[in-house]
Amino acid sequence: MKQKIAILGFGTVGQGIGEILLSKKNFLKEKYNFEFDIVAVGDFAYGNCYNPDGLDIPFMLEEAKAKKKFTKDVTPWDNVTLIKESNATVLCELTYTDLTTGGPAIDHVRAALESGKHVVTSNKGPAALKYAEFKKLADSKGVKFFIEGTVCAGTPIINLAEGPLAGCEISKIRGILNGTTNYMLTEMEKGMDYNAVLKVAQDLGYAEADPTGDVEGYDARGKVTILANIVMGAPLKITDVTCKGITKISPADMEHAKKEGYRWKLIGCVEKIDGVVTGSVAPEMVPLSHPLAGVMGATNALTFTTDLLGDVTIVGPGAGRMQTGFAILTDLIRINKEGK
Ligand SMILES: NC(=O)c1ccc[n+]([C@@H]2O[C@H](COP(=O)([O-])OP(=O)(O)OC[C@H]3O[C@@H](n4cnc5c(N)ncnc54)[C@H](OP(=O)(O)O)[C@@H]3O)[C@@H](O)[C@H]2O)c1
Repeated sequence: MKQKIAILGFGTVGQGIGEILLSKKNFLKEKYNFEFDIVAVGDFAYGNCYNPDGLDIPFMLEEAKAKKKFTKDVTPWDNVTLIKESNATVLCELTYTDLTTGGPAIDHVRAALESGKHVVTSNKGPAALKYAEFKKLADSKGVKFFIEGTVCAGTPIINLAEGPLAGCEISKIRGILNGTTNYMLTEMEKGMDYNAVLKVAQDLGYAEADPTGDVEGYDARGKVTILANIVMGAPLKITDVTCKGITKISPADMEHAKKEGYRWKLIGCVEKIDGVVTGSVAPEMVPLSHPLAGVMGATNALTFTTDLLGDVTIVGPGAGRMQTGFAILTDLIRINKEGK
């Protein structure tokens, strides 16, 4: 069946998946029998467009890159009407993350699932705050709610746990879930203090003007909550996950770790002990012999502790236009294979 794709949020990731789908159209058809049209695109900045036979995505990418409003196939429909009334079979929800309320993404995901459309998202809001509700709704409608891109971008985490690691019982997932803070800790180890490193991270675009979400550990906490819900099947809320950021790590702490053969990492962890699942985010001194200690810069990494394989560590990008666009692609391919 030819998928009809709607994209809400045509920023970094939205444009990334648009470019990937365009450039791989023939490959996807030949290798995976995956055929599609992008029929709807909605974005605050550029406007909403709809064409049931497929939009002119190359032209729209040019307009978006030039920061111009869309001019072709423009529709007066708002986002929810676009989702419900369009002939889309799958929504890619790529608007901004709000880990407190879920933001407009919650309404977008609900509207799509209620109208029997699959949802793929890299937005942590709906995944961290409403996973159980949306999974139940998706199941009742016979559609999928896939969220690979919410944790470590396209580095396979959720699909790894559900796919290649299926059959193993996973008792712990522990690792580096935030590239910004890992970059900062890497630089602090070289001798820079926290404030100087934060400024460099902001200049490089790793940290936002308001860095709170990263440095206080809130972004990692959202991801730990997602892992607890999806991989461990435990209905943890964000507030159930204890959280401490990196703001209090001093040059003296850095020196101490170095002397003792350790390295500071901001570690997110979800663990099942005697059937009880707990989650935490906190800076830890990791021994240099552990695979997580060697993960430097903005890279992410997670160690799965399993009953049959022991520890399995996966290392890869945690952000980026193509890297997160790839996460959306993997879920679209899965839907084409498994969905209706
Ligand atoms: N970039 C990454 O590497 C990465 C990695 C993992 C996960 N994510 C997640 O993926 C999602 C997309 O990220 P991104 O980097 O592409 O963000 P982005 O570059 O800021 O793009 C988001 C786009 O959505 C638009 N938007 C905001 N609210 C909207 C609404 N209610 N309706 C329609 N459009 C709306 C924004 O318009 P305005 O700019 O006008 O507000 C913007 O163009 C986010 O939830 C993010 O947390 C991103």
